[in-house]
Amino acid sequence: MSHNTSSKQIGSATLTYDNKSATLPVLSGSIGPAVADIRKIQNELGIFTFDPSYGATASCESSITYIDGDEGILLYRGYPIEQLAEHSTFLEVAYLLLWGNLPNAGELKDFTHNVTMHTMLHEQIRRFWDGFRRDAHPMAMLCSVVGAMSAFYPDSIDIHDPRQREISAFRMIAKIPTITAWAHKYNVGQPFMYPRNDLTYADNFLFMFHAVPPEAYKPNPILSRAMDRIFILHADHEQNASTSTVRLAGSTGANPFACIAAGIASLWGPAHGGANEAVLKMLAEIGHKDHIPEFIKQVKDKNSHVKLMGFGHRVYKNYDPRAKIMQKTCYEVLEELGIKDEPMLDLAMELEKIALEDPYFVERKLYPNVDFYSGIILKAMGFPTTMFTPIFALARTVGWVSQWMEMIEDPQQRIGRPRQVYTGAPSRDYVPVDKR
Ligand code: SDX
Repeated sequence: MSHNTSSKQIGSATLTYDNKSATLPVLSGSIGPAVADIRKIQNELGIFTFDPSYGATASCESSITYIDGDEGILLYRGYPIEQLAEHSTFLEVAYLLLWGNLPNAGELKDFTHNVTMHTMLHEQIRRFWDGFRRDAHPMAMLCSVVGAMSAFYPDSIDIHDPRQREISAFRMIAKIPTITAWAHKYNVGQPFMYPRNDLTYADNFLFMFHAVPPEAYKPNPILSRAMDRIFILHADHEQNASTSTVRLAGSTGANPFACIAAGIASLWGPAHGGANEAVLKMLAEIGHKDHIPEFIKQVKDKNSHVKLMGFGHRVYKNYDPRAKIMQKTCYEVLEELGIKDEPMLDLAMELEKIALEDPYFVERKLYPNVDFYSGIILKAMGFPTTMFTPIFALARTVGWVSQWMEMIEDPQQRIGRPRQVYTGAPSRDYVPVDKR
């Protein structure tokens, strides 16, 4: 049973300007704030709306993920993230995000088979890595390799063919772990490990990342469960910056691999997916809890441009529910790995405690977000900090693909084309250089 509804008009809003008035339909979805449909405003009032970072703008109708920033609620197709993190698996969540409902056993088996059959990369793609320096940031490698995939899989880039859309979705979700693991292997000078179809999605990634040819590889169930849960927590998040990038690129008809590469590039920024790497750098720079007051002082000084990384969110004005689950997982992983005192975790906990009691952060409703604890777990699991954002990108690929498919199938879909408030020079005539 699909829960995908369309928005319905529940009222109207009147905007008056310059002795003209426009009646704007107010639309509501299934849950969450209603929206004023402003599409007629230019024709009726001759003006645009202005919302430079889209903080008050609904860019689309979507039935994939719902966030309530005030209550700290996150739902994937209506299912609370807490329940999915506890009871589900990443591939089951991937099916849910892509197709709208939880799969039955047969559907999950078929879906898992389809993903597993696409984990290998075209052998020529290996040549890409020869062009990188060994110390290239893995996100640079992800951007490049994913962006080139349409050249290797030209048989699944016709966006108007539902079957090709489905194949490119399987290819993207299946191959991103291989690409991510190989980026790390290239950084450390170890041989690439080919995917193993006898392993689960999370185990296969950990195998390709950690295994070496001379050694037999034995999956660690603690790390597998933690990895799978981290993937679930990062899978989708409504119309965040990188997802909006994927949708805008997709609205032009660009092929799916190019759109995902655009999303990877957007996620890389430290204000977005790059924050997990930045949190570890920040904790390392603070060094000891005695230095926290001085650091907080810097953060409050606007001229320092120092941010408390892993804190704050455009939508959450309460605790990011993912951060709570991540913190709990952090404890579990460290304990099960026998890591008694992780100084980074102690420092992070102290920093969180101080920040949550400090009026500067309380007044601005700044709470830990998904990135605050993820880096500590990933570090404990043996990942270098440069791999934190690629792992975020690996998991978010299913969200990007799901949102891209929803956009392509949306009958209202048109090319995205924002306007502007022009503040430059009015029309003026060219002046010859000898007259200037
Ligand atoms: C992700 O959108 C998503 O859903 C993203 C994401 C996803 O899953 O896709 O959730 C993943 O990107 C999480 C966010 C990771 N980024 C960081 O942790 C970087 C640190 N955070 C900040 O850069 C910031 O909080 C942002 C970028 C996340 C949000 O920026 P906003 O919307 O501009 O922040 P705001 O409007 O809430 O800020 C209000 C005030 C401002 O100060 P004043 O002008 O009012 O004096 O709080 C300040 C901000 O300067 N502020 C911070 C701060 N975040 C906001 N001050 C210090 N440290 C911070 N982290």
